[in-house]
Amino acid sequence: MKYDFDKQINRRGTYSLKWDGGELIKQIGLTERYDEDSIPLFTADMDLPVPQPVIDALHRTVDHQIFGYTIIPPEYYEAIQKWFAEKYDWQIAVEEIVYAPGTVHALNMAIKAFSEKGDGVIIQRPVYPPFTNAVERHERVVQNNALVQNDDGDYVIDFADFEAKAKDPNTTMFILCNPHNPTGRIFSNEDLRRMSDICAENGVTIVADEIHGDLIRTGQTFTPIVKTVENDDHIVTLTAINKTFNLAGLHCTNVIISNQKMRDLFTAEIGMSLPSPFTVSALIAAYNEGQEWLDQLKVYLDENLAFVKQFLDERMPKVKTYIPEGTYVMWMDFSGYGISADEVHDRIYNEANVILEDGKMFGEEGLDFQRICVPSPRPLIKEAMERIENAFADLN
Ligand SMILES: Cc1ncc(COP(=O)(O)O)c(C=O)c1O
Repeated sequence: MKYDFDKQINRRGTYSLKWDGGELIKQIGLTERYDEDSIPLFTADMDLPVPQPVIDALHRTVDHQIFGYTIIPPEYYEAIQKWFAEKYDWQIAVEEIVYAPGTVHALNMAIKAFSEKGDGVIIQRPVYPPFTNAVERHERVVQNNALVQNDDGDYVIDFADFEAKAKDPNTTMFILCNPHNPTGRIFSNEDLRRMSDICAENGVTIVADEIHGDLIRTGQTFTPIVKTVENDDHIVTLTAINKTFNLAGLHCTNVIISNQKMRDLFTAEIGMSLPSPFTVSALIAAYNEGQEWLDQLKVYLDENLAFVKQFLDERMPKVKTYIPEGTYVMWMDFSGYGISADEVHDRIYNEANVILEDGKMFGEEGLDFQRICVPSPRPLIKEAMERIENAFADLN
């Protein structure tokens, strides 16, 4: 079937964090202004309908009328196995799959399972803020191997620094984000292998958050880190249907751990988590029948990203950005205006009434940046961009 992603679906009144969560996001300091005229493009969920087979499967589950404790049936594991085998040539054994109610939760449990208080944990800022929060909440120490922007504007890894941090006897863990949020970088197989080798040599566990791996640009390829190495004994991979199929509200993450000792440590930490019946039906339908939708979605995302890039190039050329290789977030550098980050924020959030995410949330490297999520109907993205343009009209 043909999906109409341009159609705007009113999400107000649906308990949506983006559209109904104004008070909460004001409380956490994302914005001072939020009202019924706000355009929220801050969080990475899509204002787009999910695949029809998923909707049908959820309807069937509703029709059962009873929503009791739920098992994870063989079809659940088979759907995961098929998806990763077909797309990534990654053969996953059933026992390697551990269900977790969400990726951030899994990440927190992984930190507890694989490191001790006071240990160093490498992350690569600017990076998805819960990485820093999770490390600090559990009283581990952030070892920031900051990504560096080269002369072409591409974010690259500072390997000398990475190696020095991995060699520090205090460092026991590395949280990889690939594709990387917010820079949109897909690390090369060579980079992945090199990071893995350094970690293996130094007894550093890798927790690889790959939940944006299915959402890459046409023509790009994504390789799970475990497929780039000979030995994946030190690697734990976080996969999820939440980003790929816009099902974040169903909290469905699958953690892949081939090393049995590590798996035991992780399951001991996470305890017995059971999914909801909605989660089980949605995953089976999404992985077995969601590819047609995903193919169309990716084209739409490519076009949205190209739209924003062209808009900025033509109408706000002082803002530097690029098309990300993966993810649907854009990382926009506002330093060209020569005004403070606070003033940039004020113009976008208070004047234009568009809610993005300040780059500084991702680490000090992001101070002059804003992150915009673009998986929304294009008319909405267009309106947001026009509002932002107007708020900077005197400086363009
Ligand atoms: C890299 C990354 N990891 C994890 C998450 C959140 O995942 P979950 O909703 O499964 O906790 C996000 C959401 O934006 C993300 O970008």
